[in-house]
Amino acid sequence: MTLVPFDDRDGLIWWDGELVPWRDARLHVLTHGLHYASAVFEGERCYAGNVFKLREHTDRLIASGRILGFEIPFTADEIDAACVATLAANGLTDAYLRPIAWRGTEMLAVSAQHTKIHLAIACWAWPSYFGADRMKGIRLGWAPWKRPAPDTAPTAAKAAGNYMIGTLSKHAVEAEGWTDAMMLGWRGQIAESTGANVFFVFNGELHTPTPDCFLDGITRRTVMALARKRKITVVERTIMPDEIVSASEVFLAGTAAEVTPVRQIGDHHYTPGAITEMLVRDYEQLVLLPPAEVAKLAA
Ligand SMILES: Cc1ncc(COP(=O)(O)O)c(C=O)c1O
Repeated sequence: MTLVPFDDRDGLIWWDGELVPWRDARLHVLTHGLHYASAVFEGERCYAGNVFKLREHTDRLIASGRILGFEIPFTADEIDAACVATLAANGLTDAYLRPIAWRGTEMLAVSAQHTKIHLAIACWAWPSYFGADRMKGIRLGWAPWKRPAPDTAPTAAKAAGNYMIGTLSKHAVEAEGWTDAMMLGWRGQIAESTGANVFFVFNGELHTPTPDCFLDGITRRTVMALARKRKITVVERTIMPDEIVSASEVFLAGTAAEVTPVRQIGDHHYTPGAITEMLVRDYEQLVLLPPAEVAKLAA
């Protein structure tokens, strides 16, 4: 695999209000965000020139910063405009966007009350997270790490530190040949994959774990709205691992993953079925609509 490093690409990155050449968007090594994970970020997708649910992502970014005890020094309107400007500057209409806010270099210790808060936004073309085979369904291995309790980590924030166990879990299952990891929560309940929420079909109903120790994804909520529009009963509840043997369909939902069928979790095999296919299609169509239409169909 030829890797094109993320610091050696053409384009422009928005940084604290300015567009800077991609290769110049560098941090000092003594940045608080690097040492202490005092960083929050977003993952957004732009389809046909519109960032899907842009304001929801911006609101979550600001909320994640507040959960980590800092205020991003830009308003939601300014952040939305910066995302749009970054896409335009890079000439992209279909892309992935990565806004990130972090504590700077003024202090380098656990206490960092007087660090400056920075915001950067990058974007790049990123077609399908799981590649062209996505519709065949992906295979999830059981993660060796559990999602922590909400009083153990800032689980409601899209915070960099929460991804440490995601990377460890994904690396562990990739070493065994799986596509991604099925993570349990701290009580042993089904939680999510390393970068997307999970849905199960039980007797024609759509069930998904209650997001009490992991992100309540924007795609998750969108899929729930789309399913309800289709008159499918949607149930949020605690789902235990021994129940999933009786699911008829399983899929993941997330900005990067979009709606991705799952064909295996550990020893359990699934066949992507009618409900998954319908929601994959509904989601694909929804993301292409102008924001006002999206708001009407999946608020
Ligand atoms: C760990 C994790 N869970 C869930 C999600 C899904 O969230 P969203 O649909 O808002 O992208 C993501 C992706 O951002 C994620 O990284």
